[in-house]
Amino acid sequence: MFDSTRRKWLQALGISGAAATVAGCAGNEAPAVTETENNTLTQQSDGPAETDADRVAADPTDLPDPVDWSSPRTHEVTLTVEEVTAEIEPGVTFDYMTFDGQIPGPMIRVRQGDTVEFTMENAPENAMPHNVDFHAVYGTGGGAVATTASPGSENSMRFQANYPGAFIYHCAVPNLDYHISAGMFGMIVVEPKQGLPEVDRELYLGQHELYTDKDTGQEGHHGFDFEAMAAEQPTYVLLNGEKYAWAAARYGPVEVQQGERVRVFLVDGGPNLSSNFHPIGNVWSEAYRDGGLPEDEDLSAYADKNIQTMKVPPGSCMIGEMDTPVPERIKLVDHALSRVARKGLLAEVDVLGTEDEAVYDPDFGGTDHDGPHYG
Ligand code: CU
Ligand code: CU
Repeated sequence: MFDSTRRKWLQALGISGAAATVAGCAGNEAPAVTETENNTLTQQSDGPAETDADRVAADPTDLPDPVDWSSPRTHEVTLTVEEVTAEIEPGVTFDYMTFDGQIPGPMIRVRQGDTVEFTMENAPENAMPHNVDFHAVYGTGGGAVATTASPGSENSMRFQANYPGAFIYHCAVPNLDYHISAGMFGMIVVEPKQGLPEVDRELYLGQHELYTDKDTGQEGHHGFDFEAMAAEQPTYVLLNGEKYAWAAARYGPVEVQQGERVRVFLVDGGPNLSSNFHPIGNVWSEAYRDGGLPEDEDLSAYADKNIQTMKVPPGSCMIGEMDTPVPERIKLVDHALSRVARKGLLAEVDVLGTEDEAVYDPDFGGTDHDGPHYG
């Protein structure tokens, strides 16, 4: 049943074949969770560690084009796990685990009924076994057992994407909470057969939290902290793996043009915190809770309308669409706002265009509006 690669790492971990069945979402049997408890990537260093990646934050505009085919296709998809040291914010380093070097991992996009021939490669320079559990898969562990691979090896599985929606994928080895917290999650979108409504712009973001052994913002290399994770007290709560990554403070903001309809895909990796996802200065005109999409229905008629804040549990997604009638800086936040003010979570979208004072007049009554604001 197991190929030699998988047997080898199971033996290396000292666990039986039966324990491997625990791999998968929401561990069905607890025992295997302890065997790698002290096995973290943490380096010992006082100052920031040397980085081997300039950035782990995925570009929110980098996502596959919408489905434009109308009969079932087969896709070959490979994700490569890369364990990399990078900055959470300038002067603060962390040993991340990623799919393809980015957080969230690359979006995979198919049509309902398509087949995916999937391979997970575990890069030879890595230290840990990894795998992938897709919530879009009917099958044991969402593919986690079948894809488990030790460093320097790879494993494959094939699945048919039978139900539409936006779904998380994530690593699901026994220490799955640690691996997800270190960055191992992404999204697969299975478009319904009728497709998603056409929009002008699409953005892709991932929220998750980091548990480290230093204070938020403390300079140096941050090791992983299992106790903080068990207590669900994160050091950082982030969009795309870094503090304020796609905001003016770092690599952003993302720019869109006035009048565009902007669709945002959010995946919440967690491992523990729900997102309360709100666009400051805007609204989710249409939104799909948990990324759920119906079959053979008019999606605009089905969607929730004018939602201010979307709850997105860990292990779930949301799709939300914004209209942009006036120029503004939209701040995408978790409305548990201490995560924004103190723990690093923010993405910004600049709408470029000309004022429309009927919709919004910032100068009405000669208001003095200097000073900081979150909106
Ligand atoms: Cu899961
Ligand atoms: Cu992993």
